[in-house]
Parts: sequence; C-alpha cells; structure tokens
Amino acid sequence: MKKNRSAFFCAQCGYESSKWLGKCPGCESWNSMTEEILHESKKTGSDKPVSASKRLNEISAQEGRRETTGVGEIDRVLGGGLVKGSLVLIGGEPGIGKSTILMQMAAKLKHQKILYVSGEESAVQIRLRADRLGSNGENIYLLAETDLESIETIIRKEKPDIVMIDSIQTIFSRELSSAPGTVSQVREVTGELMRLTKETGITTLIVGHVTKEGTIAGPRVLEHMVDTVLYFEGERHMSYRILRAVKNRFGSTNEIGVFEMTATGLTEISNPSEIMLSGRPENASGSVVVSTMEGTRPMLLEIQALLSSTGLAMPRRTTNGVDANRISLLMAVLDKRVGLKVNFMDAYVNVLGGLKITEPACDLGIVCAIASSFREKPVDHKTVFVGEVGLTGEIRSVSHIDKRINEAVRMGFNKCIIPKGNMAGRNVPAGVQMFEFQTVDKVLFHLF
Ligand code: TYD
Ligand code: MG
Repeated sequence: MKKNRSAFFCAQCGYESSKWLGKCPGCESWNSMTEEILHESKKTGSDKPVSASKRLNEISAQEGRRETTGVGEIDRVLGGGLVKGSLVLIGGEPGIGKSTILMQMAAKLKHQKILYVSGEESAVQIRLRADRLGSNGENIYLLAETDLESIETIIRKEKPDIVMIDSIQTIFSRELSSAPGTVSQVREVTGELMRLTKETGITTLIVGHVTKEGTIAGPRVLEHMVDTVLYFEGERHMSYRILRAVKNRFGSTNEIGVFEMTATGLTEISNPSEIMLSGRPENASGSVVVSTMEGTRPMLLEIQALLSSTGLAMPRRTTNGVDANRISLLMAVLDKRVGLKVNFMDAYVNVLGGLKITEPACDLGIVCAIASSFREKPVDHKTVFVGEVGLTGEIRSVSHIDKRINEAVRMGFNKCIIPKGNMAGRNVPAGVQMFEFQTVDKVLFHLF
C-alpha cells in the first residue's frame, strides 16, 4: 500500500512544514503545529466520480430513522433514539462509566449486530463486565484492536449495524507518525470514521476521555466533526451520573439523563428531584429549594448558602454548581436594594447533588438562601422558589411556570413563591399556597 505523505500545519495561521517545530515561523505561536495527512487524490484533482445535487424532497427521510436504544434516559438525551448512520461521541473523565453505558446499550439493542472495538481492555475483561451487566452477548462482537486500517477492514467485512469504539485515544492511523491520543491522530481517526459512517450508514459511537480541564487532545477538538456530542458527568465519589448533550444535529441539547452507578451497572433515575432532595436538613438556615428546568423536565434542587464573618480584605465567594459572578451580583443587590450588609462577609453557595445551575430562574432561591443564612432564620421546609432577580431588586417572570409548580406539588411542597408577572390567570392546585411578589425586599419581609 502506498503510504500517504504527512506534513505539519500551524493550527493558528496554517503554516506548512515537513517536520515538527516548537514555534511556528509564520505567526510565532508556540506548540501549534499538528500533523496532518496529505491525501494525494485531493491534491492532484479527482479520479472520484462527481457527485450530483439532489432535490431536497427527493431525499428519503427513511435514511435518518431513529432506533430506540432501550435505555429511556439515553433516548431522551439523544432526542428520541440513535439516528441511523450518525456519529456520536461520548466524552467524560476516566472511570465515570462510559464503557459501562456503551455495554449496557449494546446489551439492550438485541436485534442489532454490534461491533465493540476496544483498545483499552482485553476481551476477557469486557466479557466479565458484560456478564455483570446481565448481557448474554449474542449480538455483540468483540474486537481488541487499535489499528485504524484493520478496524476499517473488519467493519467493511462484518457489516455491523452499530460500531462502538472504546476509546478514540487508543486508536491510531499508520499514516501518521504521531503517537495515539495526540490531536493529529484523534482528528484523523475521527475523520476517517466519519467518512466510513456516512458511506456505509453504520451508526458509530466513540468514547473519548476528557481530563478535568477538558483540553488535552481530547474530544473538544472533535466536537465540530461529529453529529452528536454527549458528556457523561458526575463526581466520582457520588453514585449518580448525568448524561448531557452538548451538541446534537438531530435534537435538542437541553435534555439530561440521570443515572445511578450500582453494582450491576447504571440504573436510570426517572425521578431525579427525589434524589436531589434526599438528605435535606429540616429547619436549617441557608437551605432553600428551587424549581429549575433541565430541558423539558422540571427538577427540584436544594441550594445552600453559608455566610460567615471574614478576616480578609477581599471576602471569599466560594461556589459549587453556580457561577461565582452571579453570586456577587445577587449579593450586591441584597446589599444595595434590601440593605442587608452581606458584602463584607465570606459567602459559600452550594448546589447539592452535583448539578450545575445555569438558569436565572433560580436567582430568587439563591438570594433567599443567602438572606436566610445571614439572618440565621430557616425558610419553611415546604416552600419552593422561582424567579429571576434584576439589578433593581425586581423579580422577573420566568418560563414554564406550570411545569415548575406541578413538580413542586408532586414532591409535596405546598408554598410557592413566584414572580408577580407569572401569576396572571393561573389555576392554583388544591392545597397549595401561592405567594406572588414584585421585589426581593417584599419576599424577605414575608419570610423573616
Ligand atoms: P467504566 O465504564 O470502566 O468507566 P470509563 O469507561 O468511563 O473509564 O466504569 C467505571 C467505574 O464504574 C469503575 O470504577 C467501576 C464502576 N462500576 C460499577 O460500580 N458497577 C458496574 O456494574 C460496573 C460495570 C462498573
Ligand atoms: Mg472505559
């Protein structure tokens, strides 16, 4: 086989060089040269047949049909199931459960022929895991291989319905001299798999390891190449895991799937609010519950705040699961609009359960948690908060108020503090008290 020539290109300015350089002579940036294959056919014009354009309505939508994965939470994140012929990347830190989730999916997809390519574990290890996950393995074919060209040959020969690659960092193309796991290799291998996927219509799932920083030769450089990017998140010491879509050509990216890691693999959690609120302290100051939307699903989360006097000139703002700048902003509102002198105190704000809040609709809850800790007075245990807080201390209305309230009522909450703007024309569920407010100071006056 004729070997393709490779060259190094600067990722910043495109400077080409035949060997690796630490510093790009073109733009003087450091460490920006990556190796790429020079595909001869591309350079010298084409011997490939010219492809013709097609009218949009002549294209059969059958091609893009979805196959349910048999795991409800994964289907939810994918937007209804795996699209045939798509390339899906599952990223996450080592040990989070990526191989486990793939194997569980494979076990559920009984009617599909699955080729599981592992560059990390031996066939025996994979067999042991599959046994633990309760798979009989009839539809799963294993391949312990790291050479891309061999993998490609086998895929073409075996013609599976789904290929699972675990992990992209271990697979290498012989055409590049760089080591497996480098940006060049990871990109080349993914590009090749993408071509194969589109050509054959085989659905491909790729595992990619990400470090805490999320950078190193990782899936980040691949996000633009693949159809769907899912990230598997969670704290290693906690048993639940969250699957999140960060890119999806075939659905929304707002949905999350919640799982728990057990001795027999990952189990789906269809009622996340319950888990998120378990172990909540009663009558503790600084703890409140907010109703937030994760995609189309409402979820109740506990927010805890702790204020303590500081010895520092610059008081501490330590947060977990919520943006520290948002906390500074909300504390400034409390200071200026309500007159609570919270600015000269250390503040710690924590979202329990390892989830991250990105929605402004949780502002009111955060403000009340901070005020509750400051005043050292607990908030009623069965109260839930919804509302965005503006810089003038006004409470602004939020979307999906009905879903949020219904979730709170379902979980046994009987008092809802909501923005005045959301009240108009609402039917109040029986046994639930609604309190509507226009400004933060009125809420705090009502509570404490
Ligand atoms: P794994 O899927 O190998 O992680 P990754 O492929 O993302 O690196 O699984 C990681 C952890 O999950 C491992 O520490 C053991 C644990 N685990 C269970 O708790 N129960 C199980 O049934 C399985 C298969 C794994
Ligand atoms: Mg693994």
